[in-house]
Order: sequence, then structure tokens, then C-alpha cells
Amino acid sequence: MNCLLLYSSRDGQTKKIITCIAENLRRAGELCDLKDLATVKRVNWESYDKVMIGASIRYGRFDPVLKKFAICHKQQLNKMPTAFFGVNLTARKPEKCTPETNVYVRKFLLNTPWKPDLCGVFAGALLYPRYRWLDRVMVKLIMQMTGGETDTTQEIEYTDWQQVDRFTDSFFRMMSKK
Ligand SMILES: Cc1cc2nc3c(=O)[nH]c(=O)nc-3n(C[C@H](O)[C@H](O)[C@H](O)COP(=O)(O)O)c2cc1C
Repeated sequence: MNCLLLYSSRDGQTKKIITCIAENLRRAGELCDLKDLATVKRVNWESYDKVMIGASIRYGRFDPVLKKFAICHKQQLNKMPTAFFGVNLTARKPEKCTPETNVYVRKFLLNTPWKPDLCGVFAGALLYPRYRWLDRVMVKLIMQMTGGETDTTQEIEYTDWQQVDRFTDSFFRMMSKK
């Protein structure tokens, strides 16, 4: 099958996750186009059987390109098998890592006309040394408030790669709606 994989990523973790998904799908025989959502102008929908979109959270919201894309292409998206996953640090907590329990993903799904067939939430990465000063201060504050890591010399990847593999497997098994 031909898969279109789109991502919205600021510091690279969502891109890393979806790149891993693309590699695994290719190994399983799928053809995958991987693109940055921010650079996608037009989509040749006829070329694809399935679509996956992954996006990360910054200061409580997804990049507006996600909502714009979902609204603009809702008809095509709802006609074919699609998957969505969100990436954030709140999802490092086991009780906040499902589409139902992760506030950002739950809100997005409630407010978008796009109805993905498969949804996931992955914990992202905490990369203090790479953040700009103000972002570092703000993320430290968020982590302080939520009982997380506050040592700003640390880089921690919380992503559960087995969870990513299970999500990839479910996407691989999704059948065409055509
Ligand atoms: C400036 C900044 C703000 C963030 N705000 C939030 C937030 O409000 N809630 C949250 O759960 N995670 C937040 N995060 C964590 C990111 O979602 C996490 O680092 C993720 O891995 C980023 O993915 P990306 O590298 O693909 O952009 C924030 C990270 C940064 C750097």
C-alpha cells in the first residue's frame, strides 16, 4: 500500500517517531512518503491508500497547521484509513498516555472534523540543554508543577518505543476503505 506520513515537529522527537514508523512500514513492504506538514502545499490523494499524521505540543497546543490541514482536507481524510498521534511530555505519566486521557489529544479529536480511525499518544523528549533560555525556564516550570525532571543539564527521552511499534502494527493492519 502507499502511505502518506505527515509530521509537525519543533525539536525533532515527532519526526524521529514517524521516521521510525516509516522505516518499519517500508521493511514490511509498504511504500511511504514522509513529509513535514508545514511544507505540504497540495496532496495527490489518489496516490495514497492510508494517511498518518503526528504532531507535538508546545505550550498547550498543536501547531495551527494541523487544524488547518484537518479542516481543509476533511473530506479526503474521512474517506480513507487514517491515523493520528500526539506527542507531549504529559504523556510520560501512564495515566495520561491514551487518546482518552491525554488532554491535548482528547481536545483535538473533539474539535476537529477529521475522524481518524486509529489514535495514539506518545511521550516525547525533554531536551533542556537544546532549548532557548526562555523555553528552558518555562519547561522547567511546567516540570516543577507536574513533578517532573528539573535538572536543566538533562536530556531525557520518555518515548515508549514498544508502544510506537504496536501503533505501527495497528496502522499496517488497517484495510483500505476503497
Ligand atoms: C517550549 C516548550 C513547550 C512545551 N509545552 C508543553 C506542554 O504544554 N505540555 C506538554 O505536555 N509538553 C510540552 N512540551 C514538551 C514537548 O511536547 C515534547 O518535548 C515533545 O517531545 C516535542 O516534540 P517535537 O520535538 O516533535 O516538537 C513543551 C516543550 C517545549 C520545548
